[in-house]
Amino acid sequence: MAGVPFDQRDGDIWMDGEFVPWADAKLHVLSHGLHYASCVFEGERAYEGVIFKSAEHTTRLHASASVLGFKIPFTEAEINAAKEAVLKRQGLTNAYIRAFAWRGSEMMGVSAQHNTIHTAIAAWDWPSYFKPEERLKGIRLDMAEYRRPDPKTAPFKAKAAGLYMICTLSKHAAEAKGYADALMLDYRGQVAEATGANVFFVKDGKIHTPTPDCFLDGITRRTVIGLARDKGLEVIERVIMPEELASFEQCFLTGTAAEVTPVSEVGPYSFQVGEITKTLMEAYDAKVRAGAPVAA
Ligand SMILES: Cc1ncc(COP(=O)(O)O)c(C=O)c1O
Repeated sequence: MAGVPFDQRDGDIWMDGEFVPWADAKLHVLSHGLHYASCVFEGERAYEGVIFKSAEHTTRLHASASVLGFKIPFTEAEINAAKEAVLKRQGLTNAYIRAFAWRGSEMMGVSAQHNTIHTAIAAWDWPSYFKPEERLKGIRLDMAEYRRPDPKTAPFKAKAAGLYMICTLSKHAAEAKGYADALMLDYRGQVAEATGANVFFVKDGKIHTPTPDCFLDGITRRTVIGLARDKGLEVIERVIMPEELASFEQCFLTGTAAEVTPVSEVGPYSFQVGEITKTLMEAYDAKVRAGAPVAA
């Protein structure tokens, strides 16, 4: 996507407790977070000036850091307040917010027990991922070559930078073939998730989704499961094998960035953008905007 590069935008970024001009929000090239991926992050969205599930994202940011063995030097309340301050300072209402923390430069080996932990928050204007009419066509997914690792191989509950290496590789490979994204299997060969979103299927009026036992149990995933159940729809979390894809009628992705995005194809399998998918797209849209201040 063309546009102003992310290191050359206007405004301020909150970094280690204070605002710095966007262009000056730099880290040294010898930072542990860069070389050894000791970095955790959150992707969040604000709708009409209200950050959706902000506190939940902050709790996950702190939990991710704890999984990586470090402590963010700001409380959850401080991070929540800083996110609000960033949004306000940037004058944004519909935006993407990136909060992140990483190990600094005191030690530059695998071990980095005493490195300073840095924290930053940036926000930028980001309307919906796709235009409504585009989204209703559904996106096309390839099958990824890389698999989500065994929980004994990588700490899957952390939203940690290192876990995204195989996601970028998989997404690039899919895009090179003309697909929008890739569906990843897990280390057992079971359906897991897309490279930055969770996956759901619909069959005979019921919703099926893989049990998140080796991949991120997304905040959007849990929100959409709640919305579906509120509407009396049955949601079954279970093992899903790739061969089953032929039997599903609908497929959609969920995630902060993707929101609820219909899928029209996964490799050789085709899906309709059906009523359940559309209902959940609308319900999610209403839910994320429910906290917005009422116009005078
Ligand atoms: C790999 C991966 N899975 C799932 C999700 C969905 O998570 P959430 O709904 O919390 O944004 C994301 C997005 O952060 C992700 O990067």
